[in-house]
Amino acid sequence: MTLLRVEDLRVRLPTSSGPVTIVDGVDYQVEQGQVFGVAGESGSGKTISVLALMQLLPQGAQVDGRALYDGRDLLSLGPRALQQMRGRDIAMVFQDPLTSLHPMLSIGKQLTEHVRVHEDASRDVAKRRAIELLEEVRIPDPEQAFHSFPHQFSGGMRQRVAIAIALACRPKVLIADEPTTALDVTVQAGILRLLDRLRRENGLAVILITHDLGVMSSIADHVSIFYAGRIVESGPTRELLTKPRHPYTRALIDALPHPEAEEGSELVAIGGSPPTPRARPDGCAFHPRCAYARESCELSVPSLVPVSDSRLLACPIDPLGPR
Ligand SMILES: Nc1ncnc2c1ncn2[C@@H]1O[C@H](COP(=O)(O)OP(=O)(O)OP(=O)(O)O)[C@@H](O)[C@H]1O
Ligand SMILES: [Mg+2]
Repeated sequence: MTLLRVEDLRVRLPTSSGPVTIVDGVDYQVEQGQVFGVAGESGSGKTISVLALMQLLPQGAQVDGRALYDGRDLLSLGPRALQQMRGRDIAMVFQDPLTSLHPMLSIGKQLTEHVRVHEDASRDVAKRRAIELLEEVRIPDPEQAFHSFPHQFSGGMRQRVAIAIALACRPKVLIADEPTTALDVTVQAGILRLLDRLRRENGLAVILITHDLGVMSSIADHVSIFYAGRIVESGPTRELLTKPRHPYTRALIDALPHPEAEEGSELVAIGGSPPTPRARPDGCAFHPRCAYARESCELSVPSLVPVSDSRLLACPIDPLGPR
């Protein structure tokens, strides 16, 4: 069952030298119980595109397109409907966990407040639910954690608390923006197991933003690759990572350290750097860095079109597939 359908999402943000297009026509859909992965280099618009869904962009942002959830367009919800939607239908774990935690309020207070705003629960019920949530994210000694403050936790624990807060109102969709970046591998594995359990047991849909293709392959069902504010390729994770068809996806995968690589052997870095939103090249934004580029690549922006039952590709040259 499709929970969320994003159609032609476009975002322009104000800057000192005028509005700049950051997200440039993005379409995708997220199914119940699915982990929908989003990857791509820094600055490709991953965070801005999800902040847009929650109407959390800076003042002056222009957003176009539609984001259909439960028959309504999230992009045009008024303040009341928006407040009800946030947390209860769709919740977000921010890229920086400290953003979502108030430094001066105890963990318990922050959790119970979320529960009470949305569920109209009594103080006792809210506390029980808060402890339950801390157990759910495997915080040791939840009673004690309830009375602690964010600074008393390690980065990994804070990330779990941020996830607990996001889960407080039993959302149907969780947006997790780099939830495991900067955490050590065991903590990372714990958080991924938690997300995996929630999607299996509760049918939670997760939009998982990560630049870590290892994390992606371990948990995502489907991956969309962002480049310069657009999706350039998407498909089932295993297929996409083992048989990438967009030259950019291939380059990203080639840039990964392989476990079997000899010590001291070099990564294949992607030549050049991604364009800034203000200086996006004409045509396919990847063409200046693409080993397969032809003259035609400079002429028009390739659309994302189906190339098989389950895969979409925005490269009419398609030099790598199908195979
Ligand atoms: N408030 C803002 N005003 C203007 N431009 C912004 C603003 N916030 C972000 N940007 C620009 O929008 C582009 C996309 O940013 P975004 O944060 O979505 O990237 P990202 O793909 O999430 O990158 P990362 O992997 O580093 O988190 C970047 O070029 C960034 O500089
Ligand atoms: Mg980001």
